[in-house]
Amino acid sequence: MKNLSISSLESLHDLKDLKLLRSELSKIKSGIENTGKGSARIILNGFAEEINSEYILNELTQIINTFTLERSKYYLKRLIKSLTEAKTGSINDLNLNRWKEYDDIITDSLWILKKRDRSGEHKAAYWGNFIPQIPNQLLKRYTKKNEWVLDPFLGSGTTLIECKKLGRNGIGIELLENIAANAQKVINQQKPLDCNTVTEIINADSTKMDFKKELKSIGIKSVQFLIMHPPYWDIIKFSNNKNDLSNAETVDEFLKLFGKVVENTYPFLEKGRYFALVIGDKYSKGEWIPLGFYTMQEVLKRGYKLKSVIVKNFEETKGKMNQKELWRYRALAGGFYIFKHEYIFLFQKK
Ligand SMILES: C[S@@+](CC[C@H](N)C(=O)[O-])C[C@H]1O[C@@H](n2cnc3c(N)ncnc32)[C@H](O)[C@@H]1O
Repeated sequence: MKNLSISSLESLHDLKDLKLLRSELSKIKSGIENTGKGSARIILNGFAEEINSEYILNELTQIINTFTLERSKYYLKRLIKSLTEAKTGSINDLNLNRWKEYDDIITDSLWILKKRDRSGEHKAAYWGNFIPQIPNQLLKRYTKKNEWVLDPFLGSGTTLIECKKLGRNGIGIELLENIAANAQKVINQQKPLDCNTVTEIINADSTKMDFKKELKSIGIKSVQFLIMHPPYWDIIKFSNNKNDLSNAETVDEFLKLFGKVVENTYPFLEKGRYFALVIGDKYSKGEWIPLGFYTMQEVLKRGYKLKSVIVKNFEETKGKMNQKELWRYRALAGGFYIFKHEYIFLFQKK
């Protein structure tokens, strides 16, 4: 790994000759290139910090290819600033002075995620889980380290595993006792980024739970991010429990129960913070039931503004894998399209 001293970059600022500046920068650039792909280490005031070498190389190339000394120095100053000063907002830890380094963070509204992330303790066995990349992306954009995340439909615990990996505290509510217990086991196995990270699992009904009391017993009054991945009505029956949203008799009853969870959690999300809803639609008796847009409306009725609608690709579930041909035939015969997407709605508390 190559060390890059900021003071040596700063000293280039005094050069009065473009050729000389270019040749000095080219030396630095080839030094980084020769160490291969990966990270470089910047040395600032005696401290070392790792940085994506691709980012530095691109910036150096831009400066070297500039035609005037004035412009080169402007870019050099900008590079030094990006390496030495942090510009972070109030809802995450991203340093906007180094935004070009964040190749891993999606900013488009179409998410094509090919493979499930296999790092971490996720078991992927729970029918109806979401892939870890969903909470991972959202936590990085909408929370800071040590903040609190609430997931009222915890399932197998994907959100809390990602919380532990990223140093966020998390609370998960799950109606089914055995599912909550299994989630607890895998979450315990996940090595935390920070040993002070707290994760709490509560086996309860999110339509009825006293959130104020539970949060108080954990020692907090509010959370900074809310994520919900409710049942997609009755597509997967999670249990025979009548309070399970997947057992709602009608779509209206499903929306009423979902609305209750939105209402119950609303007072505990800090003002100005974000809420992500992950849900897909369903098809029934020759009709597309837009659960996504219906649930989105339920949220908008309750004091949130819509920030984004993300469409995410949806690979075959285990159940449908062997029925691919059958579904294609049905689609052709029935005049409809096969589901290949689900939604992530992003709201902000007004
Ligand atoms: C789509 S799954 C969530 C999966 C989760 N994101 C994961 O990755 O494992 C929905 C979960 O909500 C739970 N659930 C249904 N009704 C509930 C309620 N009233 N209160 C709390 N949890 C409920 C179900 O048991 C199920 O585990």
